[in-house]
Amino acid sequence: MRVLRVRLRQGGGGHAQHSATRASSGRRRGFPGPPPRCRTVTSPRADRPGRRRGSRVVPVHHPELTPGGAERVATIDLDAIEHNVRTIASKVAPARVMAVVKADAYGHGAVPVARAALRAGAAFLGAVHVSEALALRAAGIDAPILSWLHTASTDFPAALAAGVDLGVSGWELEPIAEAARAAGRTARVHLKIDTGLGRNGCPADLWPALTARAAELEAEGVLRVAGIFSHFSVADEPERPETGEQLGAFEAALEVARAAGLRPETRHIANTPGLLTRTDAHYDMVRLGLGMYGLSPLEGVTSADLGLRPAMRLSCQVAAAKRVPAGQGVSYGLRWHAQRPTTLALIPLGYADGIPRIAEGAPVLLGGRVLRSVGRVAMDQFVVDLGPDVAPEDVVGTEAVLFGGEGEPPVEAWAEAASTLNYEIVTRISPRVPRAYVGAHAAADAAAPEGTRP
Ligand SMILES: Cc1ncc(COP(=O)(O)O)c(C=O)c1O
Repeated sequence: MRVLRVRLRQGGGGHAQHSATRASSGRRRGFPGPPPRCRTVTSPRADRPGRRRGSRVVPVHHPELTPGGAERVATIDLDAIEHNVRTIASKVAPARVMAVVKADAYGHGAVPVARAALRAGAAFLGAVHVSEALALRAAGIDAPILSWLHTASTDFPAALAAGVDLGVSGWELEPIAEAARAAGRTARVHLKIDTGLGRNGCPADLWPALTARAAELEAEGVLRVAGIFSHFSVADEPERPETGEQLGAFEAALEVARAAGLRPETRHIANTPGLLTRTDAHYDMVRLGLGMYGLSPLEGVTSADLGLRPAMRLSCQVAAAKRVPAGQGVSYGLRWHAQRPTTLALIPLGYADGIPRIAEGAPVLLGGRVLRSVGRVAMDQFVVDLGPDVAPEDVVGTEAVLFGGEGEPPVEAWAEAASTLNYEIVTRISPRVPRAYVGAHAAADAAAPEGTRP
C-alpha cells in the first residue's frame, strides 16, 4: 500500500498544522464485511471507534480516521490542480493562463494552489482583493498577480510596494497614480471595460476619458497600462448571443485604447466557460478559476468530459449511528420521518462547515453505497438513512464521502440539492474543516513560508 505524507492545515489562511499519513490505495467501502484494519471496540453505541470495551469489531477504514486522526477533512489533490492547469494551458496556447486563486482558491487554499498552478505553467495569479494578493506575497510567491476589486480603503501603496498589478475601472486611477507618485514607482494597471456584465468595469461612455487620462499618466511615468480586460456574463450558456456582443464591445474598447496611445501587452476576457466555448476569446491570457479546480461550468458537461479532475474531496468519520422505529422524525422542523424501522448515521458536518442548510436528499458515499441525507442540515451535523439492514456498530468510525472524484458523488449533486452552483459548494467549505494536501509536491506546497514556521 502506497502511503503519502499529507500536510494538514486549518483552512482559511493557516499553515501546516501537523502531518498525517493517508493510504492512497486500499480505500475501503462497504460494510459489513471483512475490514482491512480492525479495532476492537466497546459496544454498538461506541462513539470512539478503536476503544476496547467489549467484543464488537468495528472496521476502521483509513489510517487518518483512527482516533486522533482527521474527523472531517477537505482533501485537496494538488496533482489534480497541476493536471487541470496543464490541460487548459495546452488548449489555449499561445494565450497564457492566469490562475484565479481568489477566495482562498475557491476554498482549496490559496498558497498551495498558487504554488501548484505556477509549477504547471500559470503565468499570472488572480486575487480579487489587494489583501489576498499581499497574503500570497507574504508566503513568498513572487509571480505576477492581478487584483481588481477595490474600495476607498484599499491599501494601494502596499500593493505597489509588493509589485501587485491593479485592475482599474474608473475612480481608482487617480489614487493609484498618487500612491505611485508618492512612492516614486510606476504602477502596473489593467484597465477594465464593462462590456455588458454591469458590475465593475468602466462604462463604455466613460472609456474614452479613462483611457486618455491613463495615457497622460503613462506619459508622466507614474503608471503603465499593462493590460485591458473585461468579464463575461453568460459564457456558461453558449447558445446566448450576449457573449458575442461582449466580444464586439471588447474589440471596440481595445480600438479606443489604441487611439489613445495605449499599447497593453495583455488583453484578457475569458473565464473558464468563456475559454472552453470561445476560442476567439482567448486573446493574450485567460483567467482560469473553476476549471483549475477540476469542475465544469457547463450544464450537462462533466469534469471527465473536459479531461479535468476535481481537486477537492470532502469526507468525515461517521460520528454515531442508531436504529430508529418507523415514524421517527429527523432534525429541526421534523421534515423527514422514517417510513420503516431503519438505521441512521450522523455526519459531523453542518452549515457551520459550509454545508448548505437546504441541501436535503444530497448524496453521501458510505459503505460502498450512495445514500441520501434526510432532514435539515443543522449547524454541525446532518443525518443519512442507511436502511434497515445495517448494524449501527458497523458504521461508527467509517468514512463518509460527501463529494470527490471518480466513483464518488460529484460536487454538482450537492449543488443541485442546494439549488446552487458547484462554484458555491466548494468555495463555502469553511475554515472549520481542515484541508489536507496530497500530491507529489504537497508537503512543499502546503508548507508555511520561511520565518513563520512554529
Ligand atoms: C474577473 C474574474 N475573472 C475570472 C474569474 C474566474 O472565473 P471562472 O471560475 O469561471 O473561471 C472570476 C471569477 O468569478 C472573475 O471574477
